[in-house]
Amino acid sequence: MSFDLLIKNANLPDGQTGIDIACQNGKIAAVEAGIAGDAATVIDAKGQLVSPPYVDCHFHMDATLSLGLPRMNKSGTLLEGIALWGELKEILTVDAVIERALRYCDLAVSQGLLAIRSHVDVCDDRMTGVEALLEVKKKVAPYIDLQLVAFPQDGLYRSPTAEKNLLKALDMGVDVVGGIPHFERTMDDGARSVTRLCEIAAERGLRVDLHCDESDDPMSRHIETLAYETQRLGLQGRTAGSHLTSMHSMDNYYVSKLLPLIAEAGVHAIANPLINITLQGRHDTYPKRRGQTRVPEMRDYGINVSFGHDCVMDPWYSQGSGDMLEVASMGFHVAQMTSRDDIRYAYDCVTTHPAKAMGLEGYGIAKGNKADLVLLQARDTIEAIRLKANRLAIVRGGKVIAKSEPRLTTLSLEGRPGTVDPSAYAPSEG
Ligand code: FE2
Repeated sequence: MSFDLLIKNANLPDGQTGIDIACQNGKIAAVEAGIAGDAATVIDAKGQLVSPPYVDCHFHMDATLSLGLPRMNKSGTLLEGIALWGELKEILTVDAVIERALRYCDLAVSQGLLAIRSHVDVCDDRMTGVEALLEVKKKVAPYIDLQLVAFPQDGLYRSPTAEKNLLKALDMGVDVVGGIPHFERTMDDGARSVTRLCEIAAERGLRVDLHCDESDDPMSRHIETLAYETQRLGLQGRTAGSHLTSMHSMDNYYVSKLLPLIAEAGVHAIANPLINITLQGRHDTYPKRRGQTRVPEMRDYGINVSFGHDCVMDPWYSQGSGDMLEVASMGFHVAQMTSRDDIRYAYDCVTTHPAKAMGLEGYGIAKGNKADLVLLQARDTIEAIRLKANRLAIVRGGKVIAKSEPRLTTLSLEGRPGTVDPSAYAPSEG
């Protein structure tokens, strides 16, 4: 049998070792030990980890790489970020947004990040971001699955043309309905916006992903309305609550009622650890709340939890590099999820869980799925997160689309010459 690509001697995220993966016509043809046959391209994984690609289900590609335009966010707060984005929006051009987004997509590919759900601000009557990112979506389709969310950043009801623009964006081909209920003028307006947005999605057969309760206010409970509307409108499995940081500060008794409702409605939860650890608790003196939503508790209820990158070098966050392993690392640190199982779970929060939230088809290392794979300079998922491991090869549709040399450092120490391979330390078993 002759394949397009054969990867030999791989470790898989589920702990299997010594596995071969054969790819043919863009699909995975076989996953087992000792596959017989040859291939146009053969890669010896040498006992390193082969993973499905990273998936970022919460990002803002219309703002990315704009750091410093037109100025820096001095306070570092969410609200100054939104105000700064308002200033930048006035001077955005379609070409500039496309150019920055494509540069970010290059970076994403180099990190093995091959599926992204990006919000795109529709509170701009020129629809600059929408026009630009629809073009980017077409351009990157051969190598990145880009899903777009129509996001009324300034509030569906607070911004006078938001609803009209949101509907127009959906007509133009934007995939998902977005919202920001905690930013509306009143709690009532916030709840009404959730209802309206879910109805729009139900009418059009679309998914919903709301910036929901990104606040330290324990009374911000729009997730309750989102779970209710998901149930009422039959949207189970198709809605997501992003951020959900108010849950950190909620009363425990109320949360004990809320979590089963979220689980029952099949609402996906998306935490954004890098961003919310810097944005939350800003009005606190000491102790300062971390603000991240209740990840381990949601896991215990069977709620599908993902970690998103949210921002890279934009009005809200000056750091970031498209590395979902950095996101996973921050996620488990902030949640204090430090057992071996917990860290493996954090890896799932940037791979299989967001793939489920986005409804990606043919995702994962199994026969018949898409031949999209990442070979890492690490032996397992825990080591991959610990090292933010080097990506040795990125495979899309059975073809190698990016590769890098192993990260090795040559020492010139007296009496201790040698080479340091960061993945050659202690076993990460257990
Ligand atoms: Fe966001």
